[in-house]
Amino acid sequence: MKKILKVLVNGEPREVAVSPKTTLVEMLRNELGLTGTKRACNSGACGSCTVLVDGKAVNSCSVLALQVQGRQITTIEGLAEGARLHPIQEAFLDHGGLQCGFCTPGMIMAAKALLDENPHPSRQAIKEAIAGNLCRCTGYVRIVDSIALAARRMKEAGR
Ligand code: FES
Ligand code: FES
Repeated sequence: MKKILKVLVNGEPREVAVSPKTTLVEMLRNELGLTGTKRACNSGACGSCTVLVDGKAVNSCSVLALQVQGRQITTIEGLAEGARLHPIQEAFLDHGGLQCGFCTPGMIMAAKALLDENPHPSRQAIKEAIAGNLCRCTGYVRIVDSIALAARRMKEAGR
């Protein structure tokens, strides 16, 4: 039997009827149409479904929607401000931090969680923060470079 889930998604209060078996990624994609969050392995192994729950990066395929009752969810759609991309998104674009782009929303959300907690991370800290996010295309160097670039730019901009 479906239950009512009340959450804040990208700053907006949302109310959705979900089955107890519905995962967070299914709710975001199928009920709210937020298809920026990708689902690949569906088993907590690739990080493509990473979103923020109360500011912490989580694999949304491994969390039931009803487990986030009353929490704040941030997805990739919540980062840009109107037409203005978030500095992490800009850095990925400017620095070639993506190829096919499938892992990119998850990478960016993992980076967002990191930079919110540690605005000046070392390369090692960046690598550790994205250790659960798999990329089959880039070899990771440009992803790490992009996150480091975003951190520098955000520092310069006082963000
Ligand atoms: S789809 Fe969630 S970790 Fe792979
Ligand atoms: S850019 Fe293709 S999987 Fe990462």
